[in-house]
Amino acid sequence: MIPIVDLKAQYASIKDEIGVAIQGVLDSCQFTLGNEVAALEKEFATYCGAKDAIGVNSGTSALHLALLAAGVGPGDEVITVPFTFVATAAAIHYTGATPVYVDIDPGTFNMDPEKLEAAITARTRAVVPVHLYGQPADMDPIVEIARKHGLIVIEDAAQAHGAEYNGRRIGSLGEMACFSFYPGKNLGAYGEAGMVTTDNPTYAKKIRMLRDWGSEQKYHHTLKGYNFRMEGMQGAVLRVKMRHIEAWTEARRVAARRYDEAFAGSGIETPRPFTKGRHVYHVYAIRSPARAKWQHELTAKGVQTGIHYPLPVHLQPAYADAKWRRGDFPHSEKAAEEVLSLPMYPELQNAQQEEVVAAVLDVARQLVPNY
Ligand SMILES: Cc1ncc(COP(=O)(O)O)c(C=O)c1O
Repeated sequence: MIPIVDLKAQYASIKDEIGVAIQGVLDSCQFTLGNEVAALEKEFATYCGAKDAIGVNSGTSALHLALLAAGVGPGDEVITVPFTFVATAAAIHYTGATPVYVDIDPGTFNMDPEKLEAAITARTRAVVPVHLYGQPADMDPIVEIARKHGLIVIEDAAQAHGAEYNGRRIGSLGEMACFSFYPGKNLGAYGEAGMVTTDNPTYAKKIRMLRDWGSEQKYHHTLKGYNFRMEGMQGAVLRVKMRHIEAWTEARRVAARRYDEAFAGSGIETPRPFTKGRHVYHVYAIRSPARAKWQHELTAKGVQTGIHYPLPVHLQPAYADAKWRRGDFPHSEKAAEEVLSLPMYPELQNAQQEEVVAAVLDVARQLVPNY
């Protein structure tokens, strides 16, 4: 089976460096925060072109604390997209605010800026565009509309480490950006971890306090905070991986180009070329109304695929709200029915990718009407 991601292949390529880094944490006994996390924060801020970065224990916590730092709370509305991982909406709920959705542009799978203004009410506090699959949302119009209405923009950059939009790195385009280092992400920890980047010292200070029980001074709690600290071990692992992220991102982009070229003219619906910067291909998704058959056939041919994501958030039972019905966000709903992610990771070998391509073209012969 060719897997959709292969964490073991990546570990094998950096095993010695990781061993040294982990040994360093064991020797120092700095198991939460500590020097490795502090150094990672500096390096990651620089990488994103942001003034500061605050390490936390997951991407979800990053979103939660960024929203709290922005002053979002009960009674507020926060605008995001329904076609995302559930954490985007969950973090909004944690603050007591209500998520309000705008549909995606079906060509990019990201927030359609033309639909944003109509969703703004007197209660809207913030906008959370998601850079889904590693492709930046169309930030210029989103930020412009947000500024006009006095809203804070928090990027959900969980899938977009190193992505660029109009010459700028993701992580510095809104007031704050939130990254996940879940193991399967483009920059993945060996456990859970996340980061908020920001240029704003007030937000940075508040997030630093909130992640550590709302205190600046031990046992003095000036804010009601959380235990959302990043572990020292994750800081050390991520610092090793930062040395490789650019090469890995380029390898993803090469693999994506190979898929694009191999499927050109086949009638397979491939990701639209991204013209406004750098797509980092966390996910490479094709789409088809016959997705179940595609997935079944590819599995039979030894190619693992994924579905990111099969249900938009407004139709998830836990987040269903009487306000939303099937049909409210037709592009998100259709994408959720059609997307199929192919194997995509930096260590994907040419020969493996050729096997995937051959299997996909074989299935296309049966299932694509204009093949
Ligand atoms: C778009 C998106 N937002 C938020 C998250 C939450 O990140 P984490 O799993 O690190 O909490 C993820 C990843 O899982 C994600 O893909």
